[in-house]
Amino acid sequence: MKFRAAKGTRDFYPDAMRLRTWLTDAWRRVSLRNGFEEYDGPIFEHLELYTTKSGDEIASQLFDLEDRGGRRLAIRPEMTPTLGRMVNARAQSLPRPIKWFSVPRLCRAERPQKGRLREFFQWNIDIVGVDDVLADAESILVAVDFLREVGLGPEDAVVRINSRRLVAAVLADLRVPPDRMDKAYALLDKAGKIPRDALQAMWKEAFGDAVPFDAIEPLLGVEGLDHLHEAIRGAKGGWAAAERELPAIEALFEKLDSFGITEYCNFDMAIVRGLAYYTGVVYEVFDRGQAHRAIGGGGRYDNLLRDLGGPAMPGVGFGVGDVVITDVLTEAGKLPVLKGELDVYVIAADAELQPRALELVAQLRRGGWSTDFSYRAQSVGKLLRAASDRGARRAVIVGQETRDENLVTIKDLTTGQQTRRDWAAFVAAPLAAGDEGDEQARRSL
Ligand code: HAM
Repeated sequence: MKFRAAKGTRDFYPDAMRLRTWLTDAWRRVSLRNGFEEYDGPIFEHLELYTTKSGDEIASQLFDLEDRGGRRLAIRPEMTPTLGRMVNARAQSLPRPIKWFSVPRLCRAERPQKGRLREFFQWNIDIVGVDDVLADAESILVAVDFLREVGLGPEDAVVRINSRRLVAAVLADLRVPPDRMDKAYALLDKAGKIPRDALQAMWKEAFGDAVPFDAIEPLLGVEGLDHLHEAIRGAKGGWAAAERELPAIEALFEKLDSFGITEYCNFDMAIVRGLAYYTGVVYEVFDRGQAHRAIGGGGRYDNLLRDLGGPAMPGVGFGVGDVVITDVLTEAGKLPVLKGELDVYVIAADAELQPRALELVAQLRRGGWSTDFSYRAQSVGKLLRAASDRGARRAVIVGQETRDENLVTIKDLTTGQQTRRDWAAFVAAPLAAGDEGDEQARRSL
């Protein structure tokens, strides 16, 4: 019987693994330089952690299970509830602000499609304990710092920003009842993902004629702060409450300006986010060409920690998955070509010299240098090619000169230059630049 990987999962063979490590290293580097500390939690949690506050969509995508004691559990589909639970457990003792990051493996039982899998990795950045819009702005700065880190400029990617308080104000004016706000957000979140007539039908089913879709639709087209001003000025009574939310949005954009990232940022009323717990600023990162699903998304969640049984503590943060960003970078030709990493490849010039070569391998490894060699005795030419295929920085040949004078011949595989050095000197610093091209060494190969 043949086995295949389960639907929506990936095998990471070494070449794919190198790219994953490259990406997660970039996430860690950016997190640390922005002042965030790493945390992690368990890969499964009590089911209720997700069914209480994340919203229907995530709840319908849970991989749930029951342990032998009959407890209902779920594999984590997102990190924010775990973060909330962990902070709540030590709310009194953790120094504020809490600036944490994590790179969890997550599972969602979604229908696998472009940009969406059932198992993926997601970088999370969160700032807990700060009410100030400065925290919202800083979280966006970190997202932009990452875009820059992987070579995406403002012409390649955009952070589309909105406020749930603003949307709530407009929806309230349009007579969406407070207890149906979550439903309205969930439907508006689908705007860019499903055809407009399908959305209209879903809206009609949820709200009937009480709140006509025609009244909602203009919301989705408001882009840029100027357009927002115009829309509010032009609305006949309907958007009055929204006006009161304007200063908060403007304050955010001022901070983004101070951080020097406005060219990456755009106000966009169509961004409401699918998760239920957001209460304020919300945002999503997209490729400018809009050929892909969201690269990442986040926002402010001021009630989640309290709703999970802790003290009232505000939070703001975002998640970026590994799938869409990899697609975007591949398409833009911005993924690096990564070879295996090896400092030294040791070659025995003949079978008799193998014991000396193995001695050298062991000494180099003890010195902390990544070192490999061939199990099979082959010609030096073939082994030099093997060294190069492995991405080794140096090949070192143990040959006649080793027997006679305890010298080794070194080939720098990046420059092609060859040198000869004393065994001990080489072991002490195998990557040191050699002497100028040694003619004798060149001729002996
Ligand atoms: P989210 O919008 O559900 O937010 O996910 C954020 C990002 O994770 C998405 O934009 C996408 O890149 C990636 N992602 C989500 N689902 C999948 C999937 N099935 N396959 C591949 N990638 C996926 C959250 O998860 C929030 N908890 C983020 C957050 C942190 N908010 C505040 N703090």
